[in-house]
Amino acid sequence: MPAKPHASANAKTGDQDDFSLETQQVTDTPSKPPKPASRKTKSTPRNSRATGDDAQILSYRHADKRVNNPEVGMVTPATDPEAGKTKWAYDPHLDPALGFDPQRGQIETLIDDALASGDTAQMRAALEELKRLQSPYLNWAGKAERTSFDIDIVSLHVHERIDPASILTAVRKAMSTTAKKKQATKAVQPGLFDAPFENLPLRDAIDFYRHERGWANRLISGDSLLVMNSLLQKENMAGRVQMIYIDPPYGIKYGSNFQPFVGKRDVKDRKDEDLTQEPEMIKAFRDTWELGVHSYLTYLRDRLLLARELLNETGSVFVQISDENLHHVREICDEIFGAKNFAGLITFKKTTGSTTNLLSGVSDYLLWYARTLPSLKYRQIYLTKQIGGNGGGAYGKIQLSSGARRPLTTAEKSSSRANGKIFRFDNLTSQSPGTRYEVTLNGHSYYPKGYWKTEATLMPRLLRSQRADASGENLYYIRFIDDFPAYPINNSWEDTSIAGFSSDKRYVVETSIKVIERCLLMTTDPGDLVLDPTCGSGTTAFVAEKWGRRWITCDTSRVAVTLAKQRLMTASYDYFDLKYPQEGLKGGFIYKTVPHITLKSIANNPEIDTIYEQKHPAIESALEKLNQALQHAKAPAFTVTEGGRKGQTLDFSKGDTLLEWEVPFDYPKNWPANVQDALAAFHSCRQAMQTQMDASIAAHADQETLYDQPAIARDKLRITGPFTVEAVPFPSVKSLDEADGPPEADTSIARTGESGRQHQWRDELLKAGIRGKGGQKLNFADLEPLPTDEGMQHLHATGHLDSGERVVVSFGPEYGALEQRQVTNALTQAGNLFPLPKMIVFCAFAFDPEAAKDIDALRGITALKAQMNTDLLTDDLRKARAHNQSFWLMGQPEVEVRKTKNDQYVVEVHGFDYFDTVKGELISGGKKKIAMWALDTDYDERSLFPHQVFFPMAGRGEGWEKLKKNIRAELDESRLDAFHGTVSLPFEAGDNRKIAVKIVDDRGIESLKVIPLG
Ligand SMILES: C[S@@+](CC[C@H](N)C(=O)[O-])C[C@H]1O[C@@H](n2cnc3c(N)ncnc32)[C@H](O)[C@@H]1O
Repeated sequence: MPAKPHASANAKTGDQDDFSLETQQVTDTPSKPPKPASRKTKSTPRNSRATGDDAQILSYRHADKRVNNPEVGMVTPATDPEAGKTKWAYDPHLDPALGFDPQRGQIETLIDDALASGDTAQMRAALEELKRLQSPYLNWAGKAERTSFDIDIVSLHVHERIDPASILTAVRKAMSTTAKKKQATKAVQPGLFDAPFENLPLRDAIDFYRHERGWANRLISGDSLLVMNSLLQKENMAGRVQMIYIDPPYGIKYGSNFQPFVGKRDVKDRKDEDLTQEPEMIKAFRDTWELGVHSYLTYLRDRLLLARELLNETGSVFVQISDENLHHVREICDEIFGAKNFAGLITFKKTTGSTTNLLSGVSDYLLWYARTLPSLKYRQIYLTKQIGGNGGGAYGKIQLSSGARRPLTTAEKSSSRANGKIFRFDNLTSQSPGTRYEVTLNGHSYYPKGYWKTEATLMPRLLRSQRADASGENLYYIRFIDDFPAYPINNSWEDTSIAGFSSDKRYVVETSIKVIERCLLMTTDPGDLVLDPTCGSGTTAFVAEKWGRRWITCDTSRVAVTLAKQRLMTASYDYFDLKYPQEGLKGGFIYKTVPHITLKSIANNPEIDTIYEQKHPAIESALEKLNQALQHAKAPAFTVTEGGRKGQTLDFSKGDTLLEWEVPFDYPKNWPANVQDALAAFHSCRQAMQTQMDASIAAHADQETLYDQPAIARDKLRITGPFTVEAVPFPSVKSLDEADGPPEADTSIARTGESGRQHQWRDELLKAGIRGKGGQKLNFADLEPLPTDEGMQHLHATGHLDSGERVVVSFGPEYGALEQRQVTNALTQAGNLFPLPKMIVFCAFAFDPEAAKDIDALRGITALKAQMNTDLLTDDLRKARAHNQSFWLMGQPEVEVRKTKNDQYVVEVHGFDYFDTVKGELISGGKKKIAMWALDTDYDERSLFPHQVFFPMAGRGEGWEKLKKNIRAELDESRLDAFHGTVSLPFEAGDNRKIAVKIVDDRGIESLKVIPLG
């Protein structure tokens, strides 16, 4: 039974101004696959759609399932408790663990065990292992000691459910009443507008990880190690990923890998103002930088180890790297994946030139490893042969329509079109032992230098079909460029550079789409799952979405996640027709194919003999008539130019006759006019046979699939399908009593709640107080650590304000956002204190938006959010401290809700407090820095499901203007324009009578506000 979880039939409305937003169509009746696209049936431009046509805007949906990881609004310390750690161990054989020669001990045990087993297979395995132990390995500081590492098992919390179709529904063109009626009917159909995400019943939804729900792709904010560990441990995804694309920082110029603002691409290494403000990024930065290449290699090796676990047996991993660390990274990959699974090293062009005193570096590299090489899924990708150029350089001759053959002229070589069939001479012989015999062509005999590639009985087919020709004393095979107009790509990709500033590059370190596209097309099929643990601007997700693959991607940087979210939300693609609509994407697309005619396919084609037997007698008789006409007309003497009698002169008056191959293609000037018809008749018989043979050759050829050229549906437009935005939650920090001193260079991962820096922070808080707007300040009279034995892990200090009020302080984690569970726990603990504190201050480098919202909503106690200056984390990384302000109060985002005359609502965002880190000032209510804001008009307290999304900072051609023109043509331009402002479109209250507004600033920092509707 074919899966059809998102089936939706689309009744065509026929209304010109109507459009529909749907999932891909899935029908019940099994259908035959439509014919492959041929070159000639190239799709016509969409704007030529017939009047009255109904443009469908669709997205692909996947029938797969995923587990119900928690929606953030349902998370409490009880529903999603902390889950311990996973211990990951490296292959012990490759790590010399102790000072004496430990491998010797292992070797002895290995030999003893193998001998004792008496089993040949085990002995063989032991010998292979011994061989492996002999091979050299890469060592670096700390590697030998670190034979295993622990990773926290975290849940991935769903913060947002994004469905671009649901968002665009709000800006569709106004419809005629009939269309509206039809649209209304459609809107209630399940799976159309309201079911991009399956909302499990509360009972199941809260029972995290125990139930399945429909697949949606995933954009996750968090460290790749935590994300991959969670996928493995909590979601059992080992072996489920088909392709992993990793584009890590290259392990050089560390600072320039981290983009601090959404709109700032010119980032300089070691420049204070370009240093990231994100605590997680500072940690990632330290991880890869603190011990130079040593920590970098540890960082990468850990991630590759987990990546391997996620890969399917048939899967592939690609690691993008530059020449500086290519050699090291390859050694690590050999270690993790096994040298025997090395699948290729691809060199791809990244820019058109870079200046250096020596050779300019224009390429980067991809290391490609299979999980298991013999089982690798591989789809050959082809490029088109160019006459005189790529793949076609050897094709230097042309066969004219008359049948005459000659070399290409220089002008013809440099033009992409030619008036005839382009061909080359190719080998008809080989060096490997085969058959040798004499071949006679056109009255001349040939003997191979090596061996003929074809046996004697089959050779006549090549000769009869004019597929052999001579040059000097050698016989060659005639290979036309169109016999196989494509050629397989190799490991040098020249056509992949992103062109300088004119390109629409949005991220400082963005990979060209073409590079990832090729990797994906070579190693996956539609519906397969692709993972990129280094999302950046989301190129892999974009490419996967474009090609109908499922995707998961993550990044520690909020700036990156914000960019990727915007890119995906506003992307549009061609709609590729499904080969078997009832099977969905798993059934694949309808690909274009090209013929692949080979010497072998011609030699093995028996039809050539049949055609020859049927058609050749007519040629013989036409030749006889031609010779008679020449004699009759007393044609002048003729010098033979082809074949065995080349150079001889024929005297027709003496009864000499032309042989078949000696007949000229063009009419000789000195021949009498009355031979013209006989010559034309001869050529027409010859060409009739040739045409039939060529058709038979084409029909007998193999077809190669062009996986990068699926058939494009003319009447369908496509946008990104539903995806969730998720985040790794951070644990709350340890109490001040428990916290140790500042940690040593820590090469493990970013997520640690423990921080010796809290002592420093408390001292600084006491000294500096908290800055508010307009010069206000909150000063502390005293501030002491809270002892742990009072069960106060989530409150870290207690004291009094200058005004005498009792206050408690809860610090967020060192390298992450303060998360909502910490808010709940800290409040519970504050409630147990006596006397009850008047105020609770949450201090953090970043606040999870849900946590910030919860703090804002607290009643019965004054709760404040104090933003901590990242200088407190990066004093060692900066040349100079920008200013002395360390803590400042964060207000709530300013959001206004207005009711309209017809009982609808409109929301306006006035901005939020923005701390200018360069000037050290808190700026109020700025709208200028809002990179994005989203409105959920019916907030269900589970996670945000935006119905309207705005990009106020987007310039021309950015934001929603990125949508293809033909999609924009289906939308109401003025309503779409509103999506670049700060005032929402009018909307009706939903069932929950509550809205949520999320604002994201240009540093990727989010704030969330929930407002009930009267
Ligand atoms: C070279 S960029 C990737 C760019 C991407 N290929 C694109 O086309 O936009 C590397 C990314 O890895 C992210 N990153 C670095 N360390 C990370 C970690 N530990 N976990 C997740 N992401 C990390 C960085 O924030 C950065 O965005």
